[in-house]
Amino acid sequence: MKPIYAFFAVFALGASAFAHGNATGAVLERMEGMKSIQAAMKVLGKQANSNDTFDRDLVSAAANDIAVHAHNIPALFAEKDMSMPTEAKAEIWDDMDAFNTLAHDLESAAMAAATVQNGDDLKSAMAAIGASCKACHSQYRIKN
Ligand code: HEC
Repeated sequence: MKPIYAFFAVFALGASAFAHGNATGAVLERMEGMKSIQAAMKVLGKQANSNDTFDRDLVSAAANDIAVHAHNIPALFAEKDMSMPTEAKAEIWDDMDAFNTLAHDLESAAMAAATVQNGDDLKSAMAAIGASCKACHSQYRIKN
């Protein structure tokens, strides 16, 4: 359980420490996609912690939301755009297949999370999702 909280702490800090209001075009779109993923993760995090009030519909909707956004990652990064204030590394466009595979991994992990029935299973599913975020960020994002 601890690693999940640590994971959220990192993203909560990231959201407040860096303002990306001046991003435009493809960079803005992909940042917005990532922010939606992050917001859905927060919904899941709350549910993972509440076995008594576990809301299956809410969990399934949030997990599916992540899956849809993960599915869109390849399209959002299709064109190389390194305009500031991007945090994307140029390596993404050296081997798009490798990058897209990581997006697909996230989609699969999110789809698995969409079917969990209780908070404990959601914690495990979220650990898999978190590992998938990290796998991509550590390789392809400047701040990770
Ligand atoms: C396939 C690769 C990949 C996966 C998987 C991935 N990300 Fe990202 N993420 C990126 C890249 C690349 C950036 C930097 C984009 C930019 O700045 O242009 C980023 C940026 C972000 C940002 C910052 C957005 C902003 O406003 O600057 C957040 C938040 C984020 N990701 C959350 C997540 C979470 C949460 C997950 C997992 C549930 C996840 N990401 C999975 C590649 C990925």
